[in-house]
Order: sequence, then structure tokens, then C-alpha cells
Amino acid sequence: MVTIRKAQLADVPDLFEMINHYVAQKIMLARTLTDLYESVREFLVAEQDGRVVGCGALKLYNPELGEIRSLCVAPGIQSRGIGRALVERLLGEAAGFGLKTVFALTVATEFFLKCGFRETVRERFPMKVWRDCLRCERYFHCQEKTVAYPLVPSEEAEVASHVTVKQMSP
Ligand SMILES: CC(C)(COP(=O)(O)OP(=O)(O)OC[C@H]1O[C@@H](n2cnc3c(N)ncnc32)[C@H](O)[C@@H]1OP(=O)(O)O)[C@@H](O)C(=O)NCCC(=O)NCCS
Repeated sequence: MVTIRKAQLADVPDLFEMINHYVAQKIMLARTLTDLYESVREFLVAEQDGRVVGCGALKLYNPELGEIRSLCVAPGIQSRGIGRALVERLLGEAAGFGLKTVFALTVATEFFLKCGFRETVRERFPMKVWRDCLRCERYFHCQEKTVAYPLVPSEEAEVASHVTVKQMSP
């Protein structure tokens, strides 16, 4: 059975190993051990038989906006609903904080669309670009798409308007 819980300090080595497995494949951004210890309170983990098999973090930017970061499920046990369960719990946390929108930058666009996100434009989130993208070695050949989840009805229209721009291109 898989349980989702808040991460603890003792989970950090497992988080580091799991995330960096996907960093090596160039599908996730690297997190250092220091960075993970500093931000461990942002993380949820999925645990199965005492073993950490998935993780994801909710980063807060301001009273309205959050980002799902460092989401991954251990190789070999993907496509069993663990990723979706983590996203649903992170969205629940976001709603509890009163956020209006949660976004993610990801190569797993289809997965996020299945979780109710919509594709949008990165320019909506300049603080992300300044904070992470401009420091990223893959900035000029980034493969990640931007997806957003509206937590309040007013944001649904905002997300939809940016989706329309994309759909109009040939
Ligand atoms: C992306 C990831 C977190 C998804 O977790 P998961 O446990 O495998 O996904 P789930 O089983 O919860 O899948 C939910 C749905 O998304 C689909 N899905 C999952 N990963 C997918 C992918 N990469 N592409 C397309 N669809 C995907 C599943 O088939 C499932 O569809 P269904 O509801 O029709 O059955 C996981 O595959 C992973 O760790 N990938 C490598 C790291 C990564 O890309 N992280 C995201 C960067 S932010």
C-alpha cells in the first residue's frame, strides 16, 4: 500500500537519489543536498513498504501562486497512480493556503493534463524565469512546457485565454 505523507529530514538522502536519477536523464532540474534540507518542508513523499517511492514539492511564491516542483516516482513503479496521488495532495495543500494558481514546468505535459492542468505560457510566471530558468544550463534549448491549474474560477478564464493563443497557431 502507498501512503502520502509530509517529508522528514531523514528522507532527504532518498529524495536526493531519486531526483538525481532523473537529472542524469535531463528531465528534471538538479537539487543539491543543501537545497533539499532547506526546502524539505515543501515536500510530500509517497511511501511503500517503508521505502520512499515518490516525491513532489509545493513552492510558494506569493499569496496567490505556487509551483509543483521536483515531482517524480521511482523507476519501475510508474503508471500506478502515485504521481497523480502526489499532485492531488499538493493541490489540496495549495487550496488550503488559499492560492489561486499552481503551475509547473515539465517534460511530462500529458501527465499534468490528465491531472487537470492546462498548457499555458511561461511569461505568466516571470519570477520563475528570473529565479531558476536564467540560471539553467538548458535555458536556450529548454524542452519543458508550462502548465497551470486554476484553483479559483477567475483564474480559469486567465489560463484559458493563454491556451487560446497557443491553439490559434498553425
Ligand atoms: C511523470 C510522473 C511523475 C508520473 O507519475 P506516475 O505515477 O507514473 O503517473 P500516474 O500513474 O499517476 O499517471 C496518471 C495518468 O497520467 C499518465 N501518464 C503518466 N506519466 C505520463 C507521461 N510521461 N506521459 C503521458 N502520460 C503519462 C498515466 O498513464 C495516467 O493516465 P490515466 O489516468 O489515463 O491512466 C512519473 O512518470 C515520473 O516520475 N517521471 C519521470 C520524472 C518526471 O518527468 N517528472 C515530472 C517533471 S516535473
